[in-house]
Amino acid sequence: MSGLKGRHLLSLRDYKQSELMLIFATTRKLREMAVRGEVFRPLSGKTLGMVFLQQSTRTRISFETAIYQLGGHGICLSGRELHLSRGESMGDTARVLSGYLDAIMIRTHRHQDVEEMAAKASIPVINGLTDKYHPCQALTDFYTILAKKGRLRGLKLSYVGDGNNNVTHSLLLGAAKLGVNIHIAAPTGYEPDPQIMALALSEAQLSGSSLMVGTDPIAAVAGADVVYTDVWVSMGREAQGKERLRDLTPYQVNTGLLSRAKPDAIFLHCLPAKRGQEVTDAVLDGPNSAVFDQAHNRLHVQKALLYLLLRGEGLGGEIEQNLDRGELSRAVGLT
Ligand code: CP
Ligand code: NVA
Repeated sequence: MSGLKGRHLLSLRDYKQSELMLIFATTRKLREMAVRGEVFRPLSGKTLGMVFLQQSTRTRISFETAIYQLGGHGICLSGRELHLSRGESMGDTARVLSGYLDAIMIRTHRHQDVEEMAAKASIPVINGLTDKYHPCQALTDFYTILAKKGRLRGLKLSYVGDGNNNVTHSLLLGAAKLGVNIHIAAPTGYEPDPQIMALALSEAQLSGSSLMVGTDPIAAVAGADVVYTDVWVSMGREAQGKERLRDLTPYQVNTGLLSRAKPDAIFLHCLPAKRGQEVTDAVLDGPNSAVFDQAHNRLHVQKALLYLLLRGEGLGGEIEQNLDRGELSRAVGLT
């Protein structure tokens, strides 16, 4: 098992199934330690810079709390405070920050900006959401499914709504890598990016996942283990708000649609939700909803990521030493 020390996390496409398993197993261990109240500060003296060029509640607060709980320090930087907003390049910013910090988390619109930052940084760069991908969210989503269902391989994940956003793209890649069957229902014109779909299809050939994209929400949700939706108007798409609401209204997740899933299906949403649009109160607050556990899991997953990218294995290996491959595979239900 190779460690993840020094790696960037720009998209799940760069991570092997075994590396995703390591993140989940580490998350599970760190969560158990937190529940027991154990103090674990392997990142003492380390600093995480968090650059936000878009709004955030969960990502910002979970990362800042994660680095603090692991003994390190987080600095939150809004776009306005940095010379980025006055035209300093991502590359130059990355080179400068690399001399002060131990890792950078960045949320911005253009995925190329994060790639440029990673290309020039000598420290790990974590994508905290771009228009194209939201890998930290998808890691949390699959961890949450694993924690609730005890396994991943062979489960049916239904995604209903805007099929062409950061969350859907990361779910597609994650499902394809992890052996989860995903069925997306989206209106015509809201399908996933064809290049990401092609990438996911090639990954699915290795894992055995089936990936389907259609327009019928009832077909997508039929027999599902997990039902997922996201906002109809992602950040930066506000100008298309009216037409999006019109096109996506038939894709609302309500109790009628959810009744097509398995009775013990869980409902997930990355949040923030627009209650009454993509999801009703009855579903979001209902017995199948796991959305607040999902949101809280962001903290544990962020801790695992920071631990693995900054410490990896070999610098003490407090977690990896105790995890042989068999245990790891069993931990994520992949055996
Ligand atoms: N799900 C998520 O990333 O939430 P925030 O936008 O609040 O960070
Ligand atoms: N697709 C949403 C996710 C928010 C966490 C957006 O980009 O606004």
